[in-house]
Amino acid sequence: MSFKISVINGPNLNLLGRREPETYGIMTLKELEDELRALGEKRGAELHFSQANSEGAIIDAVQEAGAWADGILINPGAYTHYSYAIRDALAAVGVPAVEVHLSNTLARESFRHTSVIAPVCMGQIMGFGWRSYLLGLEGLLMMLGEEE
Ligand code: DQA
Repeated sequence: MSFKISVINGPNLNLLGRREPETYGIMTLKELEDELRALGEKRGAELHFSQANSEGAIIDAVQEAGAWADGILINPGAYTHYSYAIRDALAAVGVPAVEVHLSNTLARESFRHTSVIAPVCMGQIMGFGWRSYLLGLEGLLMMLGEEE
């Protein structure tokens, strides 16, 4: 079966490549999405990409994914640490989700040590830079494949 995956990026991730490159790397969001698309093609998955800086738009993307997606790959950016609304949206749609982060948030400021999103996700991958997304997609597709 060909799985459909919604890849959702949160605030400031549109600035990848020039945003704090020592923390987030030099790859742009477009390049990262191209890497993911290539992996998706190899695995026979169909990927849809979105990025939003506002909480409401991310919630809309999650709700929309609820209508068609088999899985969600999400980097909620700073909302990770405090958005109960995004968490509730993921719980409401019930689509298996994987949370990804470029940086290892546990090695950073204490406010980044909590994720209110992770408890409603299948799993979490962080600290591998852009590769976190590829690892997250691999894990998500493997899990979806085993459910069939
Ligand atoms: C991030 C980590 C968050 O703490 C931060 O606010 C981001 C990026 C990451 O991918 O490492 O915007 O989600």
